[in-house]
Amino acid sequence: MNSATLSCIGLAGLAVMGQNLALNVAEKGFPISVYNRTTSKVDDTLVRAKDEGNLPLTGYYNPKDFILSIQRPRSVVLLVKAGAPVDQTIATLSEYLEPGDAIIDGGNEWYENTERRIRDAENQGILYLGMGVSGGEEGARNGPSLMPGGSHEAYKNVEHILMKIAAQVNDGPCVTYIGAGGAGNFVKMVHNGIEYGDMQLISEAYDVLKTVGGLSNEELAGIFHEWNRGELESFLIEITSDIFKVKDESGSGDLVDMILDKTGMKGTGKWTVQQAAELSIAAPTIAASLDSRYLSGLKAERENASRVLQEAGIDGDNLGSIRTVDKKQLVDDVRQALYASKICSYAQGMNLLRAKSMEKSWNLNLGEMARIWKGGCIIRARFLDRIKQAYDRNVNLANLIVDPEFAKEMVQRQGAWRRVVGLAIESGISTPGMCSSLAYFDTYRRARLPANLVQAQRDLFGAHTYERVDIPGSFHTEWTKLAKARSGAFN
Ligand SMILES: *[C@@H]1O[C@H](CO)[C@@H](O)[C@H](O)[C@H]1NC(C)=O
Ligand SMILES: *[C@@H]1O[C@H](CO)[C@@H](O)[C@H](O)[C@H]1NC(C)=O
Repeated sequence: MNSATLSCIGLAGLAVMGQNLALNVAEKGFPISVYNRTTSKVDDTLVRAKDEGNLPLTGYYNPKDFILSIQRPRSVVLLVKAGAPVDQTIATLSEYLEPGDAIIDGGNEWYENTERRIRDAENQGILYLGMGVSGGEEGARNGPSLMPGGSHEAYKNVEHILMKIAAQVNDGPCVTYIGAGGAGNFVKMVHNGIEYGDMQLISEAYDVLKTVGGLSNEELAGIFHEWNRGELESFLIEITSDIFKVKDESGSGDLVDMILDKTGMKGTGKWTVQQAAELSIAAPTIAASLDSRYLSGLKAERENASRVLQEAGIDGDNLGSIRTVDKKQLVDDVRQALYASKICSYAQGMNLLRAKSMEKSWNLNLGEMARIWKGGCIIRARFLDRIKQAYDRNVNLANLIVDPEFAKEMVQRQGAWRRVVGLAIESGISTPGMCSSLAYFDTYRRARLPANLVQAQRDLFGAHTYERVDIPGSFHTEWTKLAKARSGAFN
């Protein structure tokens, strides 16, 4: 084999994401070798490569031929299930890799697994990248958002390819070197946590409009379409509009109404909330979206609870029923509540990224994170450009809420936001995401909180001491003794 016949890059793991990403690479003019232990996966990919324009893609049925078909230093992308399958694939392939070659894991991997693999690979002189890939099947094929972290040298070797295959937006391709170690996986994890929040907030907007406002699916399709032309413009708002338009092919109504109300999950949302707790970062909107998924899973229990509480006399006339509301006003209010809630959710995600970056010395550029999420990924949205600008204005911004532009927007929307949350609470419609965002806002913006009382309690029962607002130092008080003496004075 001479170098003219060698591929630029290899990809192992030809399930949906792998297949589409390989075709994307080939279509951008980079000859690619692909491999999967299951030969039919290789054959499927070869057929697609031919059908989609004789793309320069070569299939291999054994790991040795696959690795030897790639030009050195080799870059091999893995798209296999996170966890043990990644370790197995690395073991299989690394037998044929040579020092200077690189492995790029494109799965939703736990960042610490990537950090362990970086160390293991280093012992063999192999470079390693953990690369978050977002955009689903469509994104992988036509331009995902890419979050590569780990070996900078490995990144430099494939940068020209990643720049071409990533989604393209007005200020460049949606890829950047994220940072060392597991930074790429961590950023992808937080991206997914934010995605959980966005989806929860949209479902709450739907619930309020449908259950309180009595809007039909047809009206909802129109409203989400309309919203997608303004400040809420985003992939998730756009697809939501489409969902409301689809009829049930095996029945008479709309498909959305026939879908069981139980949400699945794969773990990145849970990891985000766990990491937030580990780092003492408040992420209540993201946590609320995770809790909502857990509660949604208790379908049978919820059906029982609904019956038991109805029998116990919960007010069926006022709770969960359609109100006489001004529909136009409600739609406008919900739009604003959704936007303001989203800002709080992104603020939480960004602050989690910053805290982790400081812990790990990743030096994350938050504005760049917002920029590479502008295209390709599931949370892509017009509003991310505003977030990027906020961090461009001030890299040390403590919280998105206090960026002067966002601050103004929050204040403009708070009336509508409070009306929506109030109406939902009165109607017995849970809006945990919107409520959590509003509580986050109301807590963060208040210079004085009732935490003084909690601190006094801690000092009373545990002598945990407290600080004073007027004198520096820590203090302890014999609360019970002093209180008794005072009661004595009253007797
Ligand atoms: C190949 O395909 C199978 C499923 O068909 C999958 O389980 C496996 O992880 C894939 N990847 C590799 C590298 O063989
Ligand atoms: C729901 O209630 C029924 C009847 O009381 C009971 O048999 C069933 O176990 C309950 N299901 C759950 C999930 O609690």
